[in-house]
Amino acid sequence: MTRLHDPAWRGFASDNYAGIHPEVLEAIADANGGHQVAYGDDVYTARLQEVVRGHFGEQAEAFPVFNGTGANVTALTSALPRWGAVVAASTAHINTDEGGAPERVTGLKILTVDTPDGKLTPELIDRQAWGWGDEHRAQPLAVSITNSTELGTVYTVDEIRAITEHAHAVGMKVHLDGARIANAAAALGAPLRAFTTDAGVDLVSLGGTKNGILAGEAVVAVHPGAADGLVYLRKYTMQLASKMRFLSAQLVALYEGDLWLTSAQRANAMAARLRGALEAAIASGAIRPDALGFAHPTDANAVFARLANGAADRIRESFRFYDWDRAAGEVRWMASWDTTETDIDAFVAAITAELA
Ligand SMILES: Cc1ncc(COP(=O)(O)O)c(C=O)c1O
Repeated sequence: MTRLHDPAWRGFASDNYAGIHPEVLEAIADANGGHQVAYGDDVYTARLQEVVRGHFGEQAEAFPVFNGTGANVTALTSALPRWGAVVAASTAHINTDEGGAPERVTGLKILTVDTPDGKLTPELIDRQAWGWGDEHRAQPLAVSITNSTELGTVYTVDEIRAITEHAHAVGMKVHLDGARIANAAAALGAPLRAFTTDAGVDLVSLGGTKNGILAGEAVVAVHPGAADGLVYLRKYTMQLASKMRFLSAQLVALYEGDLWLTSAQRANAMAARLRGALEAAIASGAIRPDALGFAHPTDANAVFARLANGAADRIRESFRFYDWDRAAGEVRWMASWDTTETDIDAFVAAITAELA
């Protein structure tokens, strides 16, 4: 097959624009050849269980799935009865970007709370965590948080512990959407278990795709009481891969050593470089101070910026990125595991030229 794209082209719209990390691609090739038992009874999935237990503790169990939406839907289905509801930030991916899948596929209800920065707190959770025993209200029985968040911010270990203690005290489980869990760990300088298992989180959607995998995430039940019927629900939610060895091999390649961490560190560092260079350009007068602002802290690999729609559209002719909130003039710029200093510097030059 002829290569149809220009591999030098770069975008800042999504960390999914990046390709597959060479070590992950190699792991797929290494797992190829011969036969292995289908549907997860293979040696790569067995190894994945060991790797996941190394990160999340001896009681953890991993259920590889195809994608992040599937991980969230499967995890939440297993955490809630049919009458259950999950409290989440209104900006949560499960609420804004999954086509209603958690509600349509499994029938649960999402009770949303507005937050300033994408992060829930015990106080914010209480705005929706009420009405247990009231037959008129979907029962709030779980909380879902995302780390790093959809707004590029990161929960600290203490912030997560405060949430889990509060949720557990009223009988709610805590799910963590970890599509960018590695970026959160890199930002915190903490092992994965510090802000999941050890902080009281029950269920994790363990990310892979945004950090160099072709396709593959896993639902991790951190302890046996975390979830009910995951093994059956994964099939029901259409997330049971017959050739699971290839999903598992990718996750093993990512999480066995420190590839997950070094890749996330690079993405975070490149977002910081972008933000730092633009702030310096504003400070030096190279960019007009009224032309560019920032909406959220850059804790991980995302920069949320404010600039005029017309300027954003002209910059977009060279580098793709998404409007986050066009009415507010807010855009999102994402760095990936393969973003280079040269990429960032070229992007900064294009932004500076437009906003000079
Ligand atoms: C926070 C978060 N959760 C989950 C996902 C997973 O989505 P997908 O189903 O596209 O893999 C994403 C992807 O954008 C995300 O940003």
